[in-house]
Amino acid sequence: MTVPRTAPAGSGTPIGDNGAMTELAIETRGLRKAYGSTVALESLDLAVRPGEVVGLLGPNGAGKTTAVKLLLGLVHPSGGDGRVLGRPLGDRGARARVGYLPELFRYQAWLTADEVLRLHAGLAGLPWPLQQTEIPRVLGLVGLADRARDRVGGFSKGMQQRLGLAVALLGDPALVVLDEPTSALDPVGRDDVRAIIREARARGSAVLLNSHLLGEVERVCDRAVIVNRGRVVRAGSLGELLGESAVRLRVTGLPADLSPLAAFGPLGEEDGWLVVRPVDPDRVPELVATAVAMGGRVHAVDPGRRSLEELFLDVVRGQAPGGQR
Ligand SMILES: Nc1ncnc2c1ncn2[C@@H]1O[C@H](COP(=O)(O)OP(=O)(O)O)[C@@H](O)[C@H]1O
Ligand SMILES: [Mg+2]
Repeated sequence: MTVPRTAPAGSGTPIGDNGAMTELAIETRGLRKAYGSTVALESLDLAVRPGEVVGLLGPNGAGKTTAVKLLLGLVHPSGGDGRVLGRPLGDRGARARVGYLPELFRYQAWLTADEVLRLHAGLAGLPWPLQQTEIPRVLGLVGLADRARDRVGGFSKGMQQRLGLAVALLGDPALVVLDEPTSALDPVGRDDVRAIIREARARGSAVLLNSHLLGEVERVCDRAVIVNRGRVVRAGSLGELLGESAVRLRVTGLPADLSPLAAFGPLGEEDGWLVVRPVDPDRVPELVATAVAMGGRVHAVDPGRRSLEELFLDVVRGQAPGGQR
């Protein structure tokens, strides 16, 4: 990855000021959407760079799907501003370079998988010779190569979601937007989707992934933006969000002089655990061996890093005490 990761979401240059910077795949400022008196999205600041996988994370009703619909020009903003692939929201030229998996969709039951893809390839303006290679490529990617001639009406929900993913990946889009791509998939399917997302990134696509599944985002995203009640409540790389890596040891019998352990990183004590933070995760086995060599008895070793789930619950519950949707 050569993409700079220093600026968190929402701290990019002003919209429209392209300057010498790489064109962002997505940038929004104060993007807002109200349906009558319901504010679906209060204010969204988002920046996604080319070749970056960003997770838009939040509880049900947070405004994730609304954000995606605004980016794709499917609904008009009530306020704020945004650009997709350097073009204003709703621009048709930019839309043709975006692959989109909607949250809720249903293909015509009487079409075969191949026909669905042909239809969308045609709508996206993919030239015929390219369709000939692209359609088998994306079908293979999502594991439906042998179902090309089967009617969608007979597909399980998971297979339909795979087909939706294939549609989103047609023609190698510069930006791929996936709204809850794994909601109908089993763990194997989810793992496949992660591999597919990584492959899209390797091909240089930016990916925006909406999910309420935290493990999903934690495993595949470079950065996460947590939204709650229509607002960004936290954003950053996973390292920034979850803190530096640490290790906690429950160890007894250590001598008074802990200097051999201090060589691994700053030492601390929390609730009877010995904490080394920050620590190079690759050196943890050596750290444990050193504690044992010093006469220590190691009862437990625990990664000190918070999970995204813990952070998410803190952030979301902190905002809405006791409130769950
Ligand atoms: N077309 C609509 N009309 C009225 N309210 C809507 C509409 N779409 C979304 N909302 C409301 O906006 C909020 C955000 O919805 P949504 O963006 O779908 O959230 P998420 O995708 O994070 O679950 C919810 O309260 C939802 O009920
Ligand atoms: Mg949604």
